[in-house]
Amino acid sequence: MDTEKFYSKLGAGYQPGVLTTVVLAAEELKRQGKKIIGLTGGMYDEESFPWREVKEIFDEATEADWRVMLQYGGTRGYQPLREELAKWMKGHGITVDPFKELMITTGSQEALDLMARIFLDKDDVIIVGSPTYLSALTAFQTSSPDIREAKLDKDGMIPEELEKVVKQVQSEGKMVKFVYIIPSFQNPMSSMLTMERRKKIIELANKYDFLILEDNPYGYISFEGPMPTPLKGLDTEGRVIYTSTFSKIVSPGMRIGWLAANPEFIMKMAEAKSSTIISNALPSQYAAAKLFERGDVDKQIEKMKKVYIKKRDVMLEAMDTYFPKEAKWNSPKGGLFLWVELPESVNATELLMEAVKRGVAYIPGSNFYTTPTHNHIRLNYSHPSIDDIVEGIKILGGLLKEQM
Ligand SMILES: Cc1ncc(COP(=O)(O)O)c(C=O)c1O
Repeated sequence: MDTEKFYSKLGAGYQPGVLTTVVLAAEELKRQGKKIIGLTGGMYDEESFPWREVKEIFDEATEADWRVMLQYGGTRGYQPLREELAKWMKGHGITVDPFKELMITTGSQEALDLMARIFLDKDDVIIVGSPTYLSALTAFQTSSPDIREAKLDKDGMIPEELEKVVKQVQSEGKMVKFVYIIPSFQNPMSSMLTMERRKKIIELANKYDFLILEDNPYGYISFEGPMPTPLKGLDTEGRVIYTSTFSKIVSPGMRIGWLAANPEFIMKMAEAKSSTIISNALPSQYAAAKLFERGDVDKQIEKMKKVYIKKRDVMLEAMDTYFPKEAKWNSPKGGLFLWVELPESVNATELLMEAVKRGVAYIPGSNFYTTPTHNHIRLNYSHPSIDDIVEGIKILGGLLKEQM
């Protein structure tokens, strides 16, 4: 059968990328009994899940609770969860009305998808950080926008660079629909947007009339002091659409995320959601509401910080020992990733398959850009065990040294 003719343009564009190819190769090697150490996705430390707390919550649920949990729920989410969330967010610098300005999503990823569906037509311009979260790019690309990049450094998106790109877009007679920004412990660089830059970017949004999508999964995992006020907390014109998630602080499997925005945008998002997800799974939302109510979310965050500081330190120490001196990397003060810059002569994308054959996988930096690059890698320290971090870095360091 000729299947090609059945696909939409979007469907035809879904092709296995380099990561899928590597995942398949890794699975094949695992099938052959070989161990592959994944320093790849931003996954949770499996020994630290709050499973006892979640189990207790379900054990204590009454028949009346189960009647709610096993029924359809509202598109905007389980009301007690939205109320708990609004209280919690207030403690983190964001004031929202839980009824009109908040919506529960299936992780933050659904929020990114909704942004594309609500705001983007083909060739509409958006600006993202360079580099940025790769699955945000794939979510936005479903609407075929014109994606421009603004440079980042260790202090996050550079406002002068952003302004340059905005001016360029406007000089072409086009408007910027939104700027996508991960201000705190950015993925993949773990950079932290300074307060001065946060204020400046809000000023730019007001001056040049664009929206901001603020994606904040990592900000709560801050190793040194509290997370700076999110852009949403500094917004006075309702331009910032904020999303965050349980995935890095409590559990990715619960698929609990949220979107905070002005009431009109939330209304649009809820209408768009009603044609796909209808409502998030109620058992997850019920457990999430109880975890907030019992104070378990804050306790879990404190616990995870300690686990991740330890793992970060083990990875940094192993890199000092095994990595070539030509490589440069950051020492993240939060989040889950290390960003490594290799000499120009090394192609991290081409090297990945050899690394997998030797038993270690990483994400090549090229996946985080829309323009071609080749000499960065992102390493994850939250998921592998301490022993695997050391072993994985030793293997990778050996391979990199051979390339120098
Ligand atoms: C920056 C960023 N945004 C959003 C997500 C999506 O996460 P989830 O859908 O699990 O909340 C991730 C996941 O890694 C991420 O790194």
